[in-house]
Amino acid sequence: MLIADLLGRPVSYVLAHGEQVVHTAPIHAAMRRRAAGEPLQYIRGKTEFFGREFRVDDRVLIPRPETEILVETAIERIERGARVVDIGTGSGCIAATLALERPDLRVIATDVSIGALAVASHNIAKRVTLVASDLLAGFVEDFDWIVSNPPYIPAGDLESLAPEVRDYEPRVALTPGPSGTEVIARILDQAGRARVILEIGFGQGDAVRDLAAAHHFNVDDLRNDLAGIPRVIVLQRSRS
Ligand SMILES: C[S@@+](CC[C@H](N)C(=O)[O-])C[C@H]1O[C@@H](n2cnc3c(N)ncnc32)[C@H](O)[C@@H]1O
Repeated sequence: MLIADLLGRPVSYVLAHGEQVVHTAPIHAAMRRRAAGEPLQYIRGKTEFFGREFRVDDRVLIPRPETEILVETAIERIERGARVVDIGTGSGCIAATLALERPDLRVIATDVSIGALAVASHNIAKRVTLVASDLLAGFVEDFDWIVSNPPYIPAGDLESLAPEVRDYEPRVALTPGPSGTEVIARILDQAGRARVILEIGFGQGDAVRDLAAAHHFNVDDLRNDLAGIPRVIVLQRSRS
């Protein structure tokens, strides 16, 4: 892929021309970065999400296939014309895809990281409003839906992550603190009457269910990823 990028050719060209010898400084530099453990997506400066290309660099989390389940759930569940906020938009992959797949929605995307917002601005169409914000602090308007893939890894688990993740992806995108649920709890504090679709971490289902109950939310839907791990939870206010 790196050679194909640098030659400006498709991967099939590289595979079909094994006899061709390529020696260029940029290819060696890219190979060295990869050999040192840097994720391929940062070296290439792009990745694919939901069938589209997104610009990425080390200011944003690399979009993951599991997050496509969150987007599919949102496309399916959110009613026509709703106001939706994507909290912690990172590369903008969720907000941009939602806006393209559901042009009837009004989509706002927030992040606390100015670097992430700079990357997202390349990936997000003008129709999506990007806002620098600590969660929903500073918003006065209400939303119908909150979608978020928040940082959810307990801080103590960071050391055991693959070096590609631990040493390269932004800390603020990975962990919210010791329990892993700190940002989720704050989102529920701020959610008002909005319904909420969250990506959750491995083994976090019960903790998030308890947090939701404590914040007077019911679990409306829980979807597994391809490995059978509960990955996306839909919450709505319990009737009081
Ligand atoms: C797990 S990443 C998700 C990025 C992207 N939505 C995705 O799914 O690939 C979490 C994002 O939340 C952002 N974030 C962390 N704490 C935040 C906060 N208090 N307010 C807003 N965004 C926050 C991080 O900067 C990061 O971009």
